Amino acid sequence: MLLPSVPSRARIGQQPILALSLLCAQAVLLPILLVGCEREPRLPVLTDVTEFTQNPYRDQEKAALEGRRLFLNNCSICHGHEGRGDGPSRSTLIAEPANLTVDPVASYADGRMFLVIRLGKMVDGRLTMPPVEKMADDQIWKTIAYVRTLRTTPAGQLPLTK
Ligand code: HEC
Repeated sequence: MLLPSVPSRARIGQQPILALSLLCAQAVLLPILLVGCEREPRLPVLTDVTEFTQNPYRDQEKAALEGRRLFLNNCSICHGHEGRGDGPSRSTLIAEPANLTVDPVASYADGRMFLVIRLGKMVDGRLTMPPVEKMADDQIWKTIAYVRTLRTTPAGQLPLTK
């Protein structure tokens, strides 16, 4: 006949130690996991982005630090180093590059700016700003965080000069 195995005294003694070490592992791993999440937020897919979507990077300052280089590499050729619409390529375009530092563009919601960069801008059937195709979604959101730092008029207020 098989006897049910009875836990020995020694094994019972190990259980609290096991529980304690699991608790310690959690205390170490959880913050690492949380910090990891903050570093790379879940980005909305393109079809979910509306003009009211907020920048998924909560730490805007940090995102803008990375966004600066991306802006200089991908936008300044048309929009100028400070986003005033005076980049070296402006004369070759069918429309003046927008000044990103003043309204109305300075007040655009993050999502609206994202869609312009991802899809380009069409006016009367002509693509006035081509989509910036080589940028990944996270790079676009970081660039937008940087564009925010360039604005000279507060969001939601009318510019003093046009
Ligand atoms: C090839 C030149 C070019 C590049 C590169 C470019 N833009 Fe533009 N952008 C334009 C032009 C031209 C317009 C004005 C379009 C119009 O008024 O119809 C514009 C308009 C905009 C607008 C305003 C759109 C609107 O709805 O009024 C935003 C915002 C913008 N650009 C952001 C960016 C950002 C950020 C980048 C870099 C990721 C970028 N652009 C790259 C040429 C460019």
